[in-house]
Amino acid sequence: KHVAVLMGGWSSEREVSLNSGRACARALEAQGFRITPIDVQRNLAAVLAEVQPDIAFNALHGPCGEDGTVQGLLELMAIPYTHSGVLASALAMHKDRAKVVMRSAGVPVPEGRIVNRFEAASRHVLPPPYVLKPVAEGSSVGVVIVREGRSHPPQELAREDWSYGDEVLAETYIPGRELTCAVMGDTALGVIDIRPATGEWYDYDAKYAKGGSVHVLPAEIKPKIYQRVRELALTAHQALGCRGVSRADLRYDDTPGGTGALVVLEVNTQPGMTETSLVPELAAHAGYSFGELVRWMVEDASL
Ligand code: DAL
Ligand code: MG
Repeated sequence: KHVAVLMGGWSSEREVSLNSGRACARALEAQGFRITPIDVQRNLAAVLAEVQPDIAFNALHGPCGEDGTVQGLLELMAIPYTHSGVLASALAMHKDRAKVVMRSAGVPVPEGRIVNRFEAASRHVLPPPYVLKPVAEGSSVGVVIVREGRSHPPQELAREDWSYGDEVLAETYIPGRELTCAVMGDTALGVIDIRPATGEWYDYDAKYAKGGSVHVLPAEIKPKIYQRVRELALTAHQALGCRGVSRADLRYDDTPGGTGALVVLEVNTQPGMTETSLVPELAAHAGYSFGELVRWMVEDASL
């Protein structure tokens, strides 16, 4: 099989995608596939027409890669591809629309609403603590946590060079743990408890800097909660209509005197795929090497 590995692109997660793509291309090659790596640009259709792959391995992250657009092009060209299809990708990429679908499937999600970024910069749109995030970005880019006791709303949202769109999702901040769980086909894998090493939360640096966070797998939470997280990840994956591999990110308030809330923040249809990313770690825990995981993804790919 000839596999085109799509990576790069022009979203704010370009560098992350290049790392995911290179790791997957290397592993697929070692699995015996013929590989053509493609650094995705606006001329992708012409490049694919030239390369004529049997399958596209999508290692893109963010807008124009994770949001159904590339998936639509691959449908048009009748090239089978990994991960979710057009509708699930588009839905999951929009954090607020995804919440509507998840909520209707009985999956608890944080309270919140869409606001304009200038409004969010001019007054507190929720009582602190709360979180402001671009509706359709990944890797925590543009995310602002407004802590309790802070008097001024965050000015950075009004900046001229803000490039994450005018729609911002304002959500109640949930203290406690950051949990993540991947789904592979129709099975939820294990649960990781992510502990940022230095910063206060799992921001871009904690995600990608060496030693930026500690992953506890299996997460040290009550077995009942552990199973509940797996159940929610699978329900969210299915409610959004995802395919192949996805990863649900959750918050769990187990602070003393806290609410005990367990909510799904979002489902990532194109989760990070570097050798040290969360999904490969969860797959390894379930007995799949990185090579076996990417092979499974290619074999699972369809139109
Ligand atoms: N958006 C990054 C790649 C992730 O969810 O893993
Ligand atoms: Mg994400």
